[in-house]
Formats: sequence, C-alpha cells, structure tokens
Amino acid sequence: MISSAPVLDVQNLRVSFSTEEGTVEVLKGLSYSLPKGKVLAVVGESGSGKTVHALSLLRLLPPTAQITGGQILFDGKDLASLSESQLRKVRGARISMIFQDPMSSLNPVLTVGEQLQETILAHRKISKLRAKALAVRLLKKVGIVDAAQRYNQYPFQFSGGMCQRVMIAMALALKPDVLIADEPTTALDVTIQAQILRLIKDLQSQAGMSAVFITHNLALVADVADEVLVLYGGLCMEQAPVHALFKNPLHPYTQGLLNSLVSIKKKEDFLPAIAGNPPVPGKECPGCPFAPRCPHALKKCFKECPPLFNNKGHKAACWLLEEKA
Ligand SMILES: Nc1ncnc2c1ncn2[C@@H]1O[C@H](COP(=O)(O)OP(=O)(O)O)[C@@H](O)[C@H]1O
Ligand SMILES: [Mg+2]
Repeated sequence: MISSAPVLDVQNLRVSFSTEEGTVEVLKGLSYSLPKGKVLAVVGESGSGKTVHALSLLRLLPPTAQITGGQILFDGKDLASLSESQLRKVRGARISMIFQDPMSSLNPVLTVGEQLQETILAHRKISKLRAKALAVRLLKKVGIVDAAQRYNQYPFQFSGGMCQRVMIAMALALKPDVLIADEPTTALDVTIQAQILRLIKDLQSQAGMSAVFITHNLALVADVADEVLVLYGGLCMEQAPVHALFKNPLHPYTQGLLNSLVSIKKKEDFLPAIAGNPPVPGKECPGCPFAPRCPHALKKCFKECPPLFNNKGHKAACWLLEEKA
C-alpha cells in the first residue's frame, strides 16, 4: 500500500458468529495496513462484513461474535489480545469511531455540550471550565453556528447533519491517531452527505490523522480516500490506490460496481446492476464468493478461492489474473 510505516496493521482477521444454525464465519482473513495520515476506504455491499470489521478493531462486537484468528497491530500491540482495561485506554483516545446513526449515538437526556464535555473529561485531566471552552471550540470547528448557545441544547433540537457534526467533534476531541467512520453519511440527505464527508476529510488531513472510511457507496470515496479495499462476503476482492482502482479495476466485482456508477452519471435508463445476490454467511460455495454472480467465472472459481494476486500494490483476488501475476 502507500509507503511509510503503518499505524494500524490488520493481519488475517477472522470473525465468527454463533447462531442457531451453528458457527458462521463472516470475516474470512482480512488484511490491510493503514499508513500514518492516510485514508483507507473499505467499500462493500450490505452484509459484506464492513461493520463487523470496524467493531472488531476495538473489540466492540456483540457477545455472540468472536475473533477467531489474526492480529490487529496498533502501536506495536495486538488489539485482538489486549485486556479490557488496556483496550479502554485505546478506545476514543487513540482510535475513535463515528457510526451511521448519529441520533441514536447521542444521549437524548443530556445537552450536546454536556456530552462533549464529559467525553473530554473522561480522558483528560483538565478543569470543567477548560473542558467546556474546548467543547465550544470543537463545535465551532465542525461547523456548528452559534456554538456557545447550541452547547446548551439537546440532541432533538439538532438536525441529523448537525448531530453527525457533534459526533465528529466527539471523535476528534481526544485527537486520536486513527478515526474509523462507519457509513457516517448514510442516514443523511445527499446534499449534507458531501458536506460531512468534506468536513471529515479536512479535519483528518489538518490533524495528520489516519482514517478508515467505511461505505457501501463507491462513488463517495473517489475524493476522500488514498486507498480502497473492496470487501465481499467477508473477503478482500481488490485493494489499490484510489486512482488505480477507478482507472483500472481488476476484479469483475469492482468492475460491476463501477459500471453501475458510470450509468448513473450518464443517466442511462438501463442500469447494469450486478445480477444476483451477495452470499449468505454459512451457505457459500467453496470457491470465490463472487463466482455465482460473476460473468467471467471459470469452473475453478466455484471450487477454489483465489489468493490476492499482487501487482505492484494493486491487489485482486481473481483466478483470471493468475496468468498475468
Ligand atoms: N449479531 C449478529 N448475529 C449473526 N450474524 C450477524 C450479526 N451481525 C452481523 N451478522 C452477519 O455478519 C455479516 C456482516 O455484517 P455487517 O458487518 O453488519 O455488514 P455490513 O456492515 O457490510 O453491511 C452479515 O452477513 C450479517 O448477517
Ligand atoms: Mg454496516
């Protein structure tokens, strides 16, 4: 991936759920490294494992889920094996998260300012007064007009976009090394989506933070990501610098995603969406998870899962690339 030492290094991460039908693996060996100051976009259809991946980074998975393999190296330590008390020091302060639904992440009975102040005080030994001043400054920074007045208001007095701005302020309050944003704009109007994205991108680059940006919408990442990882059925299908991925997508799945974007742009009536449905965990074929929907699938694709072929940092898991590798 991009040069310079990684801040976060995920190696062969595996996560399973215990369900009534038995153990189901939903992340099947995910690897990537995130260099300092860079943005990695993790893109995939609903159910591909994006949120499970994000939650496992800070071990916030539900009790029925288990990390069954791999490493999450951060600052020389493996987050997958840290104790709960060690992890608490990392959560928020070193790695912050923004979630999809800002309304449900805020506490309805506390003012926005109180919540922000509390977050700051939980991690920093400063006076209440200084924490409040910092909170107001942060609200201004994320574009809340009349921040000092707004500080005393409750979440229901804020729009969805403003709530997400508050969540961003909370995530940034502790100057984390890594920001993880899981579909931060999905619950918002299209016009607000672009503003929020721009805001995260600007704040990320000002602070020299690294970020993992999670979305189902490939179109959203072109302007904000340095590198893109395409996730499908719990596996990386393709990973490349953003320009290479858009210019020369190697995996038929990525090609399908991009084709549907192109026809939206051209306002064509016929939208070549990818036919078929994503795999259901526990009911996959033994080979490539995309094989049943792939227009180019070979017999081998249904039997054996391809490795990630790596051509100068542009990686793709497709048997069609085997000869070129
Ligand atoms: N609590 C759960 N119990 C069982 N399976 C789950 C649970 N949460 C998520 N999954 C499964 O894990 C897979 C990945 O889910 P998720 O990471 O939420 O997808 P995404 O965020 O990409 O839409 C899905 O197939 C989903 O059904
Ligand atoms: Mg999700």
